Amino acid sequence: MSAATGGTVKDHYASEGIAARILAALRAAEAPVTPDALAPLDHFHGRGLKATREMAALLDPRPGERVLDIGGGIGGPARWLAARFGCHVTSVDLTPEFCRAAEALNAATGLSERVRVVEGGATDLPFGAGEFDRAYSENVAMNVPDKVRFYSEALRVLRLGGLFYTSHYGAGPRGEPDYPLPWAAGPATSFLTAPEETREQILAAGFEVVVFRDKTEEVMPDLRENRRRLEAQGLPPLGLQTLMGERIRDLQINVARSAEDGRLTVIEALLRRPA
Ligand SMILES: C[S@@+](CC[C@H](N)C(=O)[O-])C[C@H]1O[C@@H](n2cnc3c(N)ncnc32)[C@H](O)[C@@H]1O
Repeated sequence: MSAATGGTVKDHYASEGIAARILAALRAAEAPVTPDALAPLDHFHGRGLKATREMAALLDPRPGERVLDIGGGIGGPARWLAARFGCHVTSVDLTPEFCRAAEALNAATGLSERVRVVEGGATDLPFGAGEFDRAYSENVAMNVPDKVRFYSEALRVLRLGGLFYTSHYGAGPRGEPDYPLPWAAGPATSFLTAPEETREQILAAGFEVVVFRDKTEEVMPDLRENRRRLEAQGLPPLGLQTLMGERIRDLQINVARSAEDGRLTVIEALLRRPA
């Protein structure tokens, strides 16, 4: 498969036995199998659970609502949201191994009834129009070349007045980031747009902007601290290495260095499908 159809995106993420490795790591740490205890291992984006809490504060899901996680990975944010807010979350993701891990971790946390996993692509969502009350996507847009289609699909599956939250890395003003990065081994599967261009793509898809901001300066202390810790102490005992291997250390250092140098930005938006 070509990069355009997502083949190499999947290759970047895929590995066998993900859920078994994660559950073994939790057992070794004598930690309970809960969405909170899993968070260092299953929220696969910069700043982990802290970023998901910030997403939830803006998206504000209500009990019983139908929420879509676009590019939900192994389902950490979806399980955390369902457990915390009593909503029903559907996690759609391109990578089959991630979908299988998400299903196994849903079962292990007793959340299979409230978190559904669907294998599928963000630019061709396998859902009908208006199926969801809210949707979100954390650190996925970087893998998607056709951004207007990405936002248009999110809009289509929301009910009128429904909200979509996205946060992801974008292009910085000072040139190319250092590869490899957590979402891509190289530029062939990394599609970064600058904040202003991103805003235009969002408007072209038909969304109303509720919040749109360049969050880079705000998150920089966390990125710097993470880099300092990784360089001084290496990987933490429980971390994303269980999912992505020990290469995650260098990938995260590349994120922090590139953002510090103005070669990556962090974009956050809350968008509404016009009523
Ligand atoms: C960095 S991970 C983030 C996972 C999850 N959102 C989280 O924060 O834990 C990026 C995810 O996006 C998925 N992805 C990339 N391109 C996609 C696409 N076109 N459609 C659906 N999922 C996609 C990958 O399979 C991967 O699970």
